[in-house]
Amino acid sequence: MSPTDKPHSPSCERNREPILEVLREYFTDRRHVLEIGSGTGQHAVFFAAALPHLIWQTSDCAENLPGIRLWLDEAALANTPPPLELDVTGTWPMRRYDAVFSANTLHIMSWAEVERTFAGLGDILADDAKLIIYGPFNYNGQFTSESNAKFELWLKERGAHQGIRDFEKVNALAAAIGLTLLEDRAMPANNRCLVWRRVRA
Ligand SMILES: C[S@@+](CC[C@H](N)C(=O)[O-])C[C@H]1O[C@@H](n2cnc3c(N)ncnc32)[C@H](O)[C@@H]1O
Repeated sequence: MSPTDKPHSPSCERNREPILEVLREYFTDRRHVLEIGSGTGQHAVFFAAALPHLIWQTSDCAENLPGIRLWLDEAALANTPPPLELDVTGTWPMRRYDAVFSANTLHIMSWAEVERTFAGLGDILADDAKLIIYGPFNYNGQFTSESNAKFELWLKERGAHQGIRDFEKVNALAAAIGLTLLEDRAMPANNRCLVWRRVRA
């Protein structure tokens, strides 16, 4: 893959500023961030440049790593180590992070993969870690908008295992690994930013 073939996601350009506002608020006192499902790597270079006190560790399934490397190489930031291969169903890093971020991943994964994600997070989140997950969610089994209902149909056409997740079920997985919800913030285009903190004795 040559630098001119860098993968590009238009939605990253649209949502990065509002997400950055949330990260500025909650990750100011953080140091080591693991991003799960970094995709193109666009979010990583934008957030790492804006928040230079963070070490922003990208990760994704193997097929996305070359594209992420192109974005990281071009930006040449001091705080973005090479991407990690991390399929949530596979082997997780053998270290702890005080922050984890993931955008638009839970509705792409199967529910079993979402469960595996939280099981893995249970092992890698430090005792006072913060977790921020961005994306669309349903509440009380209902879509929050007509556009999310249409998005669900589009997802199901791509893969029956995909789908917008229920906030309550995701929050239950989070609670099971000691995470307390700090904020559920409404974001543009009917998305949410879910912010949790781990509180362990
Ligand atoms: C819609 S993309 C979002 C990418 C990026 N975070 C963004 O917001 O543009 C979904 C991402 O989830 C990742 N993903 C799907 N299944 C995964 C799994 N089992 N383990 C890790 N990442 C996974 C995909 O590889 C892809 O990068």
